[in-house]
Amino acid sequence: DRTAPAPRDLLEIAVTVARDAAATAYRMRAEGVSVAATKSTVTDVVTAADRAVERQVLDALRQLRPDDAVLGEEYGAGDTPAVAGGVRWIVDPIDGTVNYLYGLPYCAVSLAAEVDGEVVAGVVRNVATGEEWTATAGGGAWRDGARLRCSTETDLGQALVATGFGYDPGRRAHQARVVAHLIPHVRDIRRLGAAALDLCLAAEGRVDAYYEKGLAAWDQAAGALVAAEAGLRVAGLRGLPAGPDLVVAAPPALFGPLHDRLVDLDASGGP
Ligand code: IPD
Ligand code: CA
Ligand code: CA
Ligand code: CA
Repeated sequence: DRTAPAPRDLLEIAVTVARDAAATAYRMRAEGVSVAATKSTVTDVVTAADRAVERQVLDALRQLRPDDAVLGEEYGAGDTPAVAGGVRWIVDPIDGTVNYLYGLPYCAVSLAAEVDGEVVAGVVRNVATGEEWTATAGGGAWRDGARLRCSTETDLGQALVATGFGYDPGRRAHQARVVAHLIPHVRDIRRLGAAALDLCLAAEGRVDAYYEKGLAAWDQAAGALVAAEAGLRVAGLRGLPAGPDLVVAAPPALFGPLHDRLVDLDASGGP
């Protein structure tokens, strides 16, 4: 067993590493970007920057925290296993790669620290704007020094709801049916293109709620903590915890109505 540092100390490390990573992503974008490879499908692209930024994060963490485990989107779990009481870092080097590719200012570095399977600290930094969201378990959610509270909206019909789509065509078809079912019952839908940032926007009421099927740990680890610490309820359907089947983040008053609409079309089912 090991004793992990306090969440605020882990956050300090995360912020330092994420800022340097975001600076690299910004610089590489200015130098020009192209598709380096595709992954699960032709739309699931990776750029040289996704890899270089993750490599930089892994190197920085190895310097600062050599015994910690790491899980990253591009390089997986590495060879340092998670141990009881130890820290595992979860990194999405660029969340919103398609926006990054097109030069749309909505992509982020996401870095979270988990202890015994629970995320205790997280930072999401927008590569293009420099906006930075942070949270620690029990310590609240913050953007650039200001404490965040989620929306107080209580009527789903007045709610702006963000969502996203995976890369698998069959999954997308199902996700499109769910959106078609939901859209008559909400103010509008936003598909902004970066799950980590969507959760952070929900944390400050710049959207009222968010849901998505098929997220990986790195998409949501930091953002879900920011959202939860800002007062959103973050869960799956039918009492399940948030996970790859579905993440719903909604203010307490909106969670039930949104949940029920999503159950109608089995948003957590399908491919
Ligand atoms: C994707 C983005 C997108 C979401 C996808 C994710 P990536 O992450 O967060 O908004 O809809 O589910 O895979 O590939 O850009 O890191
Ligand atoms: Ca992602
Ligand atoms: Ca990514
Ligand atoms: Ca990706």
